[in-house]
Amino acid sequence: MNIDTAFITGTSSGLGRGLCETLLEDGCTVFGCSRRPSTLPGLHHASCDLRDHETVPECLATLLEPAERLDLVVLNAGVLGRIELLHRLPLDEAKAVMEVNLWSNKTVMDWLHAWGRPVRQVVMISSGAAVLGNKGWGGYALSKAALNMLAKLYAHEFPDTHICALAPGIIDTAMMDHLCDEADADAFPALQRLRTARGTEAMPTPREAARRILSVLPALREQPSGSFVDIRQLIDPEGYARLYGKR
Ligand SMILES: NC(=O)c1ccc[n+]([C@@H]2O[C@H](COP(=O)([O-])OP(=O)(O)OC[C@H]3O[C@@H](n4cnc5c(N)ncnc54)[C@H](OP(=O)(O)O)[C@@H]3O)[C@@H](O)[C@H]2O)c1
Repeated sequence: MNIDTAFITGTSSGLGRGLCETLLEDGCTVFGCSRRPSTLPGLHHASCDLRDHETVPECLATLLEPAERLDLVVLNAGVLGRIELLHRLPLDEAKAVMEVNLWSNKTVMDWLHAWGRPVRQVVMISSGAAVLGNKGWGGYALSKAALNMLAKLYAHEFPDTHICALAPGIIDTAMMDHLCDEADADAFPALQRLRTARGTEAMPTPREAARRILSVLPALREQPSGSFVDIRQLIDPEGYARLYGKR
């Protein structure tokens, strides 16, 4: 599919930045937002805190005014929160993760609905954590499970847009720093797999992960709108079976 115009959230680092670089390289017009400024030449960027639900609509209206339609929207902005036993995780911390990973995406989707211009495909960046239920992933896992349902619910309300929630696999970004350097791998065994993978081809760079996501967009559109898909189902069925078989 030809992507001429795209909008990505969370573009200052990691996967969002990788997606912008890759799309710009392909000659696409790219709009992005994040709190920190973006240094990418050619990116139309707005500095915006997606938790600020009052100001986001105005920010999006200004940013996306030149776009007559969007071929691709990637709702990528997200935070990890702390890896901790759920009963020890203060409610405020769990709510803070939900605010970015779930509710900010509702604000953006509602704005796109009111905007009324054509939007061809929306990919909400989810995680295997949404379904794996590994010990310690409480606030993050809850937020991504809810995001999967957000995709399913909005599929009813955007009949002309293909929507999916996509687990992108593990990627070497800032989010991995806490998981690989700080969190307690003895207390939370799921971290061992990440630590073993870091620095190997099992954990791609943001640019590699971005290219992989763009390559599966047509396959995603073959799924019913509102689906949750783990990219490993499509590109590494054996790895997918190993990961999900361990549940
Ligand atoms: N890395 C992985 O292995 C992995 C695996 C599965 C899923 N994911 C998902 O992939 C997505 C990208 O994560 P990443 O790994 O690339 O981490 P990252 O490097 O930390 O990027 C997160 C991005 O989200 C933006 N963001 C966070 N809070 C925001 C807010 N309040 N308003 C606007 N933007 C905000 C950040 O920008 P500012 O801080 O400048 O605002 C940043 O650009 C997330 O949804 C994450 O859950 C990652």
